[in-house]
Amino acid sequence: MAFLGFLVTVALIATATAGLIAPVSQESLSFSTSSCSDAASRLYLSDSPHDNYFYSDCHTSAHVIVTSPQPGSNLDIVKPRLLVAWPAGNSGALALFAPETGQQGTLAVSLEKSTTSGEWLDPINQSTRVGVSGSIKFNDTARLTVPILGSIRSIRDFTEGGSVSHDFQGSFGFSLNADGGATVNRTWFDGVTTTWLTFTPLNGAQAVKLNKEAAWTLSFGAGNYRFDASYNYPQLDQLGPSEVLDQSASSLISQNPDQTTSLSFLSYTDKLLAGTWRFLTYFGRDSMISMLLMQPILSESAIEAVIGAVLERVNRTDGTACHEEVIGDYATWLNRKDGISSSKPRCDYKMIDTDFYLPIAMKNYFVDTQDGQQRSKTFFAKTATFLSENNGLNYMQLAQLTAEKIMRIAAPFANSQVEENLIHLNNDQPVGEWRDSNNGLGGGRIPYDVNAALVPAGLRAIAALSRAGFFPDHSDWADTAEDYAQIWEDSTLQFFQVTVPKASATSLVQNYASSISVPANVSSITGDITYFGLAVDAPTGPSVVPVMNTDDCFRLFFLNTTNASQLSSFLSQTADHILQPFPVGLSTDVGLMVANPAYAGDAGVAANFSKQDYHGTVVWSWQLAMMGQGLARQLGRCSSSNDAPDFCNDSDLHAKVVAAYNRLWDIIDANQAQLSYEVWSWRYAGGGYEVVQLGDLVTTESDVRQLWSLTFLAVHREDFGS
Ligand SMILES: *[C@@H]1O[C@H](CO)[C@@H](O)[C@H](O)[C@H]1NC(C)=O
Ligand SMILES: *[C@@H]1O[C@H](CO)[C@@H](O)[C@H](O)[C@H]1NC(C)=O
Ligand SMILES: *[C@@H]1O[C@H](CO)[C@@H](O)[C@H](O)[C@H]1NC(C)=O
Ligand SMILES: *[C@@H]1O[C@H](CO)[C@@H](O)[C@H](O)[C@H]1NC(C)=O
Ligand SMILES: *[C@@H]1O[C@H](CO)[C@@H](O)[C@H](O)[C@H]1NC(C)=O
Ligand SMILES: *[C@@H]1O[C@H](CO)[C@@H](O)[C@H](O)[C@H]1NC(C)=O
Ligand SMILES: *[C@@H]1O[C@H](CO)[C@@H](O)[C@H](O)[C@H]1NC(C)=O
Ligand SMILES: *[C@@H]1O[C@H](CO)[C@@H](O)[C@H](O)[C@H]1NC(C)=O
Ligand SMILES: *[C@@H]1O[C@H](CO)[C@@H](O)[C@H](O)[C@H]1NC(C)=O
Repeated sequence: MAFLGFLVTVALIATATAGLIAPVSQESLSFSTSSCSDAASRLYLSDSPHDNYFYSDCHTSAHVIVTSPQPGSNLDIVKPRLLVAWPAGNSGALALFAPETGQQGTLAVSLEKSTTSGEWLDPINQSTRVGVSGSIKFNDTARLTVPILGSIRSIRDFTEGGSVSHDFQGSFGFSLNADGGATVNRTWFDGVTTTWLTFTPLNGAQAVKLNKEAAWTLSFGAGNYRFDASYNYPQLDQLGPSEVLDQSASSLISQNPDQTTSLSFLSYTDKLLAGTWRFLTYFGRDSMISMLLMQPILSESAIEAVIGAVLERVNRTDGTACHEEVIGDYATWLNRKDGISSSKPRCDYKMIDTDFYLPIAMKNYFVDTQDGQQRSKTFFAKTATFLSENNGLNYMQLAQLTAEKIMRIAAPFANSQVEENLIHLNNDQPVGEWRDSNNGLGGGRIPYDVNAALVPAGLRAIAALSRAGFFPDHSDWADTAEDYAQIWEDSTLQFFQVTVPKASATSLVQNYASSISVPANVSSITGDITYFGLAVDAPTGPSVVPVMNTDDCFRLFFLNTTNASQLSSFLSQTADHILQPFPVGLSTDVGLMVANPAYAGDAGVAANFSKQDYHGTVVWSWQLAMMGQGLARQLGRCSSSNDAPDFCNDSDLHAKVVAAYNRLWDIIDANQAQLSYEVWSWRYAGGGYEVVQLGDLVTTESDVRQLWSLTFLAVHREDFGS
């Protein structure tokens, strides 16, 4: 493209560009322009008011979202936009548009296929930059009001904060080009990487106009413009569908092109990404849970990418596994705020659950599979390269640091089974496991999933690894970890148990149901209601957070507990919650609610678990997968000839568990349309529950494709009778 005349810096954006960090090797970065051996992969997903377009080839990959308000859209939330999300560097470009007339809701934007290539998106593949281009259509005059060029994390913060805050952007260049187009570009805080966004009139659309106001904007006429979104940042090496899947699962590629293309889009040689567009980077919990649910269909490369990514990011000081990496422009910005002049990656270590998944993932692959056994030695001899802090450590040393941490923090409760010895959230943090929005645990400090499932499962895995020859410095772990596990497995549930007498359950459900205008269905209450609360040790209210939930799935999926009477009563109440309709239990036509605050009897608690809350009365796809697979694992134990648990012989109970399993699968099958989404909400209308996208209600959008929501590629209904 030709730059004409002036290049300017937006006045509003005063952040000094002085003190830039020393340029890194990207100076010499050059992208390959040789042709790819495989055809480019493309996917279109409609998700009104968003259209999603994916493009990947051997050079780059991108997810483009075009949002256009629809009749009935909340215009304060849904605004016309073009969003480009790039996995490499968790990077992106956002162009937020407004109707030139100023009247919200009167501008529609859409992508149109290229008249030359016939495709929605074409690659930009120059030696100096990579990206995508396409044709965007405005049905009326439009104005680009907010550009954000840099990090997806910045775009997510901006979108959820809802306000215009440019402090993380530094300065932009605006230029008008000879062909009537305009370019906005921004050099990242690293001083080297640049993101460019260019609009060029097509088919006689009017030239783009630059408005030099307080914040500079671009004006467009009605019609089509080609957009070119590009940047010069090192790209990731994507695992194509046949590389991410095990050979035995390759038929899925033709059977499920959407899910396998999506899985490939999120899978790279050195990490798997949590979802797109909002979480387009490493998340330890998400990738390990996905791996564990999908293990039978994943390739060695994919499994080792997951485990390797976690090991690379372990905090060597205390063995904590990394929750979320911070890379790219956002990392440089955070480093700079800390007075560090560097674009080195950072890690968020605030979660308390991620550690436990690591030995489980290691054991399930490196001990339980032949491929894993064979590759173990080479894999664990690798030295860490991602965090400079971990220089000189190999994967085995890093794995041991996490195992040592687990053994250290599990010991007090193994010695004395009192509440204070359970695992708490970190002191200064409101969150710590998967329900990681501020109200997700209802204020509780000791989460149910971590204590009643992940700790004992992690300990069992450490014991198994030790028996297989891992951690030779701690040969006692084969016994010690097993002993600890038994205690954690047998003696934690009681701390979370809540029993609500039948009469009060009935009135609590009636009150709650009427407060949210859904039927109460109290006829399904046939006795006292028992459940295990989300957490204990809330600062106010009862000691157990009185919110029914789906986290039973962790115990079912991760543990084969051995106290048979305890397992029977546990399975009985899980099955009840699936068979009883919400708000008595958890079931609705749109899925299992991950939380049900009916039994709290508290309007404040109910309000904090509303259908607009990320971890409120909403449905998460992967929780359905883990519940389905967890029940299948327990039912699977009944075919063991010598140590089937008691519930297998209790015909009423066994039948109830099978009925719950089948009911769950009926619900899953009825929700195929949204299973690959991250999370969804609902409305009650015309006598039933209907799916509503969370992003229609609040600024927190659901990712249209989430790694752990793709696990239904591997998780299927099994036949346990009816
Ligand atoms: C580069 O992009 C052009 C334009 O879309 C395309 O025709 C060409 O095949 C691409 N080349 C490579 C090597 O991907
Ligand atoms: C553009 O689309 C919006 C939303 O559909 C509509 O309200 C508006 O009337 C359209 N404008 C024109 C000029 O067609
Ligand atoms: C924008 O790009 C132009 C041309 O490459 C360059 O001279 C200018 O410094 C860039 N501005 C910013 C803020 O990156
Ligand atoms: C690693 O753990 C230590 C000890 O808990 C802590 O002081 C340090 O801040 C952690 N590192 C990072 C990068 O968070
Ligand atoms: C719940 O109650 C509503 C209204 O009374 C009824 O239509 C519906 O069938 C009931 N659902 C179940 C699962 O019993
Ligand atoms: C099994 O768990 C129950 C509580 O559900 C407890 O009363 C019993 O003592 C436990 N049995 C054994 C053998 O630990
Ligand atoms: C609801 O959430 C708010 C904000 O986190 C919190 O301050 C309040 O205590 C919560 N209310 C209840 C009843 O838990
Ligand atoms: C529990 O048993 C089932 C059925 O045999 C099996 O599929 C599952 O892997 C076991 N789970 C654990 C954690 O060992
Ligand atoms: C369950 O039944 C089988 C045979 O039907 C029997 O061998 C086994 O001992 C029984 N297990 C229990 C725990 O009752």
